[in-house]
Amino acid sequence: MTEHIALWGGRFSGAPADALTELSRSTHFDWRLARYDIAGSRAHARALHGANLLDDAELEGMLEALDRLDHDVATGKFFPAPDDEDVHTALERGLLDLAGAQLGGKLRAGRSRNDQIATLIRMYLRDQSRNIGGKLLDVVDALIDQATRSGETIMPGRTHMQHAQPILVAHQLLAHVWPMLRDVQRLVDLDQRMRISPYGSGALAGNTLGLDPQQVAQDLGFDSSVWNSIDGTASRDLIAEFAFVMAQIGVDLSRISEEIIIWNTKEFSFVRLDDAYSTGSSIMPQKKNPDVAELARGKAGRLIGDLTGLMAMLKALPLAYDRDLQEDKEPVFDQIDTLNVLLPAVSGMIQTMVLNYERMEELAPQGFSLATDIAEWLVKEGVPFRQAHEISGACVSECERRGIELWDLSDDDLLTIDSRLHSDVRTVLSAQGSVAARNGQGGTAPQRVREQRIAAQTEVSKMRAFTSSSVLESK
Ligand code: ARG
Repeated sequence: MTEHIALWGGRFSGAPADALTELSRSTHFDWRLARYDIAGSRAHARALHGANLLDDAELEGMLEALDRLDHDVATGKFFPAPDDEDVHTALERGLLDLAGAQLGGKLRAGRSRNDQIATLIRMYLRDQSRNIGGKLLDVVDALIDQATRSGETIMPGRTHMQHAQPILVAHQLLAHVWPMLRDVQRLVDLDQRMRISPYGSGALAGNTLGLDPQQVAQDLGFDSSVWNSIDGTASRDLIAEFAFVMAQIGVDLSRISEEIIIWNTKEFSFVRLDDAYSTGSSIMPQKKNPDVAELARGKAGRLIGDLTGLMAMLKALPLAYDRDLQEDKEPVFDQIDTLNVLLPAVSGMIQTMVLNYERMEELAPQGFSLATDIAEWLVKEGVPFRQAHEISGACVSECERRGIELWDLSDDDLLTIDSRLHSDVRTVLSAQGSVAARNGQGGTAPQRVREQRIAAQTEVSKMRAFTSSSVLESK
């Protein structure tokens, strides 16, 4: 068993201070990249072989040792020692144990931890884009399912939290779907930019050994290798882009969550959460709390914080690699770990919640939410909109004065307000009439919403092809 190795001891006469070792160690978070590092090592070994730096037997021995190491990592038999600085150091120690110092010592030629880590993180994030994207699509599926179940039920649509116009419940639910679909699109799109491998960049300037970065790139499932080795080792904008998408997912989850929190209040009574997705109070026996939604709302702050911390670390960092860059990983790992537990809870909560359609329908036409319909009816009668708006406003103020709703106004009341308000206006004084009239693409008319739902479903199935693929497993 190799006791302790450093990858950089040669020019030093003294050992590192314990305080440095403690500060420097990253295995407690970067160990999750171990299997990607081994995949990189296999490709690197083949590149060394291609440059005649390993003969056939050496390549075979190296790949065999790497396979065994991979197995030991996967089963937990091999793990980092406290002295190992990072994932690369630990794995080199493991390889030396399995392949011996002579053969094992040859693998490091022509690569640096700088190009290694930049490559591994891209591979890992490509896989995590698929994992997180897939779990987000589960939330989307739950929302689409609720939208389907709600049929043509109408609810009050709000702006400024005030009753605005009646809308289909399905329209409101699908409004949360589109931003989530765009998040998955962003991950698909980002994957194109992540398909470029930094391997072969060496420490910063490239390698002298005639290794072919293109071959390594293809071996690792990338499309090609970087054009600039400094960019390859020192840039982290792709990580920041990934972190933005994670933060945006958090924001999107927080918005549907806030809606559910409000709907779940006694005053609204729009939703009943399943027991499996609500919690009780330790002192108030009557309480049933929307903790999943509240945690989603809270964790959005944390996801944004991870993005902000990462970008602050990157700001003004000189080229090429600086050790600050080691701080790129924990923020995105935290985002991934957070969403990994949050997303299934949110999709479960949405899937199992029961909407109170009666209550929603009952409130839909209230709060004078049909006032716009009166104005637009007048426009169709040839009244200029400025006047129509005034006339409809006068109806509202008359109702407010008398404590009644718009449809309670008699034919005489209407004609007194304006002679052009004849009784036909009643056709638009229902929530059904109001939603049916909004029948342009993107509108809340039932037929348009059905088409919208099918469009969303088509998008989901396209994206499932991406989220069910994998980078490491296909290696
Ligand atoms: N552990 C480092 C990181 O995560 C990679 C090692 C590069 N370290 C170095 N001293 N060149 O970025």
